[in-house]
Amino acid sequence: MAIKTVGVLGCGLMGSGIAQISAAAGFKTYVLEVNETFLQKGMARIEKFLAGGVEKGKMTAEERDRILGQLIGTTRYADLKACDLVIEAIIENVEEKRKAYAQVEAVVGAHCLIASNTSSLCVTELAAATGRPDKVAGLHFFNPVPLMKLVEVIRALPTSQETYDALFAFSRAIGKEPIAAPDRGGFIVNRLLVPYLLDAIRCLEEGLGTVEDIDQGMKLGCGYPMGPFTLLDFVGLDTTYYIANIMFEEFRETRFAPPPLLKRMVLAGYLGKKSGKGFYDYAKK
Ligand code: 3HC
Repeated sequence: MAIKTVGVLGCGLMGSGIAQISAAAGFKTYVLEVNETFLQKGMARIEKFLAGGVEKGKMTAEERDRILGQLIGTTRYADLKACDLVIEAIIENVEEKRKAYAQVEAVVGAHCLIASNTSSLCVTELAAATGRPDKVAGLHFFNPVPLMKLVEVIRALPTSQETYDALFAFSRAIGKEPIAAPDRGGFIVNRLLVPYLLDAIRCLEEGLGTVEDIDQGMKLGCGYPMGPFTLLDFVGLDTTYYIANIMFEEFRETRFAPPPLLKRMVLAGYLGKKSGKGFYDYAKK
């Protein structure tokens, strides 16, 4: 199956990164947001990253312009009509995704694949919410999308072999290393990462060490690029809380249960870097 034109639903943190790497790999890429304000914000994020790439000598100004030339921002679903693949990276809500898929299916051809960047929802449920369940799968990217090499390809129960193969090939074409992940809560990476992050919070609650010392321990002792609390702040405490709850629902195992401190920090609005405060205070940093 030849994928030439790609649509990305959502130009937030993940969607903008996905749209950027798709355009950088030479695919004509349409990125859709619900309104102009969100679209401009997302496009500005892409432009900033590319400008940073030019500054760091990672790409030339011509290369940046070529990428931006392959990228079309839109707020109209009708503009997605030529897409061979639509990657959805919108809010983690089944009903909202269902509505978005219906709007995509109303304009794209019968051959068009739909992939969800969901980090935690059941991909089989998402596939069943469309009129083309055999052409739906998960494509789970990692933050920051342009820098993290991995993509998890998640096969839903109805996903066809052809769809699955096409998504593996597409992942490689955009410079990522795909792995086969099962349609189970947390797939592979979050299944291991989330209990580790939750455990770090439990250790903090038990007084095992300070935020700084636990972070330093895992960073310098294990060679992790970020300690668990820096990573929690980076991913977002609300996002981690949300994923943990879904995984706890799925497996009913205590290691996935969000610790009380995480719940309270989310309720207090301490969401990490994006809110200016999480385990670290970014106003001070
Ligand atoms: N353009 C091009 N290249 C850029 C760039 C830009 N704008 N900005 C940075 N880079 C390059 C740098 O030049 C550098 O390349 P080099 O290795 O060849 O020198 C590389 O990217 C790393 O950049 P920096 O040196 O500026 O930054 P760090 O070394 O501090 O790394 C990081 C930043 C990659 C974010 C690193 O800290 C990291 O890997 N952190 C862990 C992130 C992680 O775990 N993400 C997964 C979260 S979980 C998730 O997403 C799943 C979800 O479901 C929750």
